[in-house]
Amino acid sequence: MFDRFYLNARKPKGLGGCLILARMNRFEHARLAKWGLGYLLLQKDDVCLDVGCGGGANIARLLRLCPEGKVYGLDYSAVSVKKSGRVNKKAVKEGRCEIVRADVNTLPFAEESMDVVTAFETIYFWKPIESAFAQIYRVLKRGGKFFICNESGKNSSQPSERAKLLDMTVYNKDELERLLRSVGFTVVHTYSRDDNGWLCSIAEK
Ligand SMILES: C[S@@+](CC[C@H](N)C(=O)[O-])C[C@H]1O[C@@H](n2cnc3c(N)ncnc32)[C@H](O)[C@@H]1O
Repeated sequence: MFDRFYLNARKPKGLGGCLILARMNRFEHARLAKWGLGYLLLQKDDVCLDVGCGGGANIARLLRLCPEGKVYGLDYSAVSVKKSGRVNKKAVKEGRCEIVRADVNTLPFAEESMDVVTAFETIYFWKPIESAFAQIYRVLKRGGKFFICNESGKNSSQPSERAKLLDMTVYNKDELERLLRSVGFTVVHTYSRDDNGWLCSIAEK
């Protein structure tokens, strides 16, 4: 029963999906996002895309950090799209925010249309990861940034029970940097918190 509930982290569905998204917004991912965003330099008019936007709390953070910009949220779960729209209702009404349902491997955005793409707690589920990263590279403008923020930074060669249950691929710093460079990103910086394994990478096109 608990396993079924936690499977919602991969693709939220139904009531369990709504509950897990509310928890992520309020508790589980809030501290991680605040820590990681401290490393990301944003301009007030940046156009941002948050991939795997879940409950939409990070869309709200990006809207506050880019008050003259626009923020798109994207997720392949209908429940996540609905919740993100509700959380950011005012900005959606004002035309400063749009939420779309799609898979990261088929991003419905034009080439070089985004200043920043963010991915909080989601790349573990992207398959194949190379093609997802190539899509993000495609939609970023020259000099644009791809920001990844992960709670699980892999500190053992064995996958955890949670990673096995959710069929997650957990990447360490070297694996992430190699993947990012393989699709064309040049400058890549990674920051980590050794006490709890948190990791964030910022790659520049
Ligand atoms: C663990 S939740 C994280 C949600 C949010 N980013 C946060 O930090 O609270 C992962 C989210 O990524 C989405 N996701 C996973 N794989 C995806 C894919 N291939 N394309 C689009 N969204 C995806 C899931 O539906 C889910 O909403």
